[in-house]
Amino acid sequence: MNTLNWQDDHLTILDQTLLPHKVEYVKQTNIEQMRETIYQLKVRGAPAIGVAAAYGCLTGLKALTHLPLTEFKEIFTKQAEILRAARPTAVNLMRSIDLMVQRMQSSQATSSSALYDDLVAEATRIHQEDIDLCQRIGDAGAALIKDGTSILTHCNAGALATTGLGTALAPLYVAHNNGLKFKVYADETRPLLQGARLTAFELRNAGIDVTLLCDNMAADLMSRGGVDLVIVGCDRVAANGDTANKIGTLGVAILASYFKIPFYVACPSSTIDFSAPTADYIAIEMRDPDEVRSFNGTFSAEREVQAYNPAFDVTPAALITGFITEKGIITAPYSQNLRTNFYHGH
Ligand code: MRU
Repeated sequence: MNTLNWQDDHLTILDQTLLPHKVEYVKQTNIEQMRETIYQLKVRGAPAIGVAAAYGCLTGLKALTHLPLTEFKEIFTKQAEILRAARPTAVNLMRSIDLMVQRMQSSQATSSSALYDDLVAEATRIHQEDIDLCQRIGDAGAALIKDGTSILTHCNAGALATTGLGTALAPLYVAHNNGLKFKVYADETRPLLQGARLTAFELRNAGIDVTLLCDNMAADLMSRGGVDLVIVGCDRVAANGDTANKIGTLGVAILASYFKIPFYVACPSSTIDFSAPTADYIAIEMRDPDEVRSFNGTFSAEREVQAYNPAFDVTPAALITGFITEKGIITAPYSQNLRTNFYHGH
């Protein structure tokens, strides 16, 4: 099941808010719709948002290739900036927009239609890069999984969060394909239930042994020796290794530290932000309090009650056993080791 498809001149997105009950692809026809698609989490997960934004900023532009080049560039730049602001935390979004704008600036195209083709080529390159990174993370992380290992994950950092195998779930898919038998626990991940709706769904469909639990059950499970290993994804990793990921990840990391369980973050280099020295420089998205007061339109709390709803939290680098990356497993000191392996600036 593809997270998204680029066909001819338009993007279709699997509407993940309808999963697991309904599989529906929605054609993106204008940039406002595309921005809402990202904001409403119809496409979500840092790498998938990045690929969706790369194609997404081209929404509707094929029909405008008759315009003069300067005008076409202005419209493209406006569209790119609209998507850049759709969600603030996953750095893959800003990275993709930066790459697309850089491609526009460096293109030698002398017509709007030639520039459009260059931009489609860049989006396709970003898409292929994501697929490759996922596979390499899967290969690197599979070594952590043995027959009988019991793995806990939070949110959804699987195939549905990327355009490939996933990040946190990629090692599980590789281990499964290698014939290993292991057990996965999926935190349901309140308030939007990405664990229940997406992780449990995609792992079960793949024939992997998965058990769903409420977020507040992880401590009990760990205290009984039920978890050997935690693997989660990330939305932005600061230069020192501090990691923003789905709200609740910090709690899992603290529990893992208390119970001495290895805690790994699966991290494609596209999610590392060297311009953020520490997590203090990472913007954390605050979302509509109704997401906490209700689910799917049904209120479980009084509509008037105040509700706290950060979409992400920060796990300090000190709680992370290692990063599973496309270049293998990176351990502390992170400031040094992330930079040595992944920094391409000056
Ligand atoms: O709000 P979401 O569903 O976009 O949050 C997703 C996560 O927090 C994932 O763990 C993260 O983006 C990594 S996905 C490979």
